[in-house]
Amino acid sequence: MTIPESARNGANSTWVSVVGARPQFVKLAPVCRAIDQHNRNSSTSIIQHRILHTGQHYDREIAELLFEQMAIPHPDHNLGVGSSSHGTQLARMIQNMEPILRSERIDWVIVYGDTNSTLAGALLAARLNIPLAHVEAGCRSGDIGMPEEQNRVVADHLSQVLLTPSQVALDNLLREGIGGDADPRKRVSVLAGDVMYDALLQHLKLADNRAAENLRQFSLESKGYYLLTLHRAENTNNRQRLASILRGVKLLDLPVLFPVHPRTKQVLAAAGLSLNGKIRPIPPLGFLEMLAMEKHARKILTDSGGVQKEAFYLGVPCVTLRDQTEWPETVGCGANRIAGTEPELIRQAVMENHARDWSAFTPYGNGSSAEKIVDQLSAADRE
Ligand code: UD1
Repeated sequence: MTIPESARNGANSTWVSVVGARPQFVKLAPVCRAIDQHNRNSSTSIIQHRILHTGQHYDREIAELLFEQMAIPHPDHNLGVGSSSHGTQLARMIQNMEPILRSERIDWVIVYGDTNSTLAGALLAARLNIPLAHVEAGCRSGDIGMPEEQNRVVADHLSQVLLTPSQVALDNLLREGIGGDADPRKRVSVLAGDVMYDALLQHLKLADNRAAENLRQFSLESKGYYLLTLHRAENTNNRQRLASILRGVKLLDLPVLFPVHPRTKQVLAAAGLSLNGKIRPIPPLGFLEMLAMEKHARKILTDSGGVQKEAFYLGVPCVTLRDQTEWPETVGCGANRIAGTEPELIRQAVMENHARDWSAFTPYGNGSSAEKIVDQLSAADRE
């Protein structure tokens, strides 16, 4: 990026985005674009944006390929922490991140979503007294036993600016006393909308261009298959739950395309569970291929939060293989059914008719959330 002459002596600020897992790369992409746009348009304030990749995800299909397809700048730092137990992974992230966050004056650390990389970035920024912003703040499943719920609650409580994807998420924060008028810590909670919607709109045309080729590659016809994703620890770490879901999926009437997350691949092999019958396992897909295969699926079955929303945006009915969701709006309008993990309940949820059209319902903003986020943080910079 070229810094305009007029801004060279103006106010510069340094923001560090901490990411590490697949859904965070998706959320980061529109924020990078919005920062570039800000820098092109502003004659007075330039944002130096550094990307710090913890290395939590490292397989090409779920890391590097997303950076390439979404034109995300190469990370400034890669901590290369890789996989291990939660404790070791978190400890490595924090230890490797500390000298980087101490090495220069940082105006914002930005964390995204609810992974271990979110928790590590939030905790360290708070400890080093660096202003912290949380993108996708305020989501709650109500199950504090989930690592993701623990991560998001801690990140929210430590942040100064909380950027929520929906009114429901904003209300959750206000109920917890974060960011309202009465907040003694003067934290700011705002309705920013969903950056994943920005990402989808920015890449849908590219995905459409390759959809026919992708369908041919998997010998599938548009609306002639279901798409399945499954990776949550609550499902994969429990052999009985995993086997029960697969029994339900095998009862369906169409082929089921199943991009298998690395975690799930290992668990399936270790548990000796087979994927024969209607299920067609394939390696994880890139972002563009995933959008294409989501759009053309008859229905989507998933335990991922991001995939539930992408189904909603693409007008594809979704069946969620969990007992609760952080995205209640998708359920309220009939786009999404919470099926749990019982085989017969899964079969029924997929076979029943869903509401036909929820396109007029827009609880997650209009696709310009990243711009709002950059405006909000740069306004706070100036205060
Ligand atoms: C993480 C997030 C989850 C998010 C998901 C998206 C946490 C606690 N969980 O789950 O919220 O929805 O990312 O994908 O942060 N593995 C590989 N290659 C990789 C990455 C992982 O083989 O590139 C395997 C490793 O064996 C690892 C396992 O997958 O032990 C789980 O990876 P991990 O990063 O711990 O969590 P995810 O299940 O991916």
